[in-house]
Amino acid sequence: ERLLILNGPNLNRLGKREPDIYGKETLKDIVEQVKRISTPFGVEVQDFQSNHEGELIDRLHSLDESYIGVVFNPGAYTHTSIALRDAITSISIPVIEVHISNVHKREEFRHTSLLAPVCIGQIVGLGVQGYELAARALLERK
Ligand code: DQA
Repeated sequence: ERLLILNGPNLNRLGKREPDIYGKETLKDIVEQVKRISTPFGVEVQDFQSNHEGELIDRLHSLDESYIGVVFNPGAYTHTSIALRDAITSISIPVIEVHISNVHKREEFRHTSLLAPVCIGQIVGLGVQGYELAARALLERK
């Protein structure tokens, strides 16, 4: 069984990017932490980051039945991408949307998610711990 940590645009810059908003931890640190909690469940963690919408869509399409779910931070595509929403609805694997920052405290254009209605849940504003919390939710419902 496998779990995918999927990250959208600019999240490759975590650790360097606006650390006052997104913290100092890197994507690698986040993936390591999710691996630590998934191993006891016998679940292998895969991770993929892309700055390109189509690549994120292709990765979602490529998931087979061995995946228990996806922890997905779509970055700014959250607020714009009908195509990613359709990709999530085209597969039957549960997706949890994660945002490091509390998008509701920020600019109004970040208050809307086109993806949340097709995800099983959403974790917002808890920092990078949100990835771990989402992974735990998937591991415990499997
Ligand atoms: C984000 C919030 C988005 O609004 C923003 O575009 C990001 C990061 C977050 O994790 O807080 O790139 O998804």
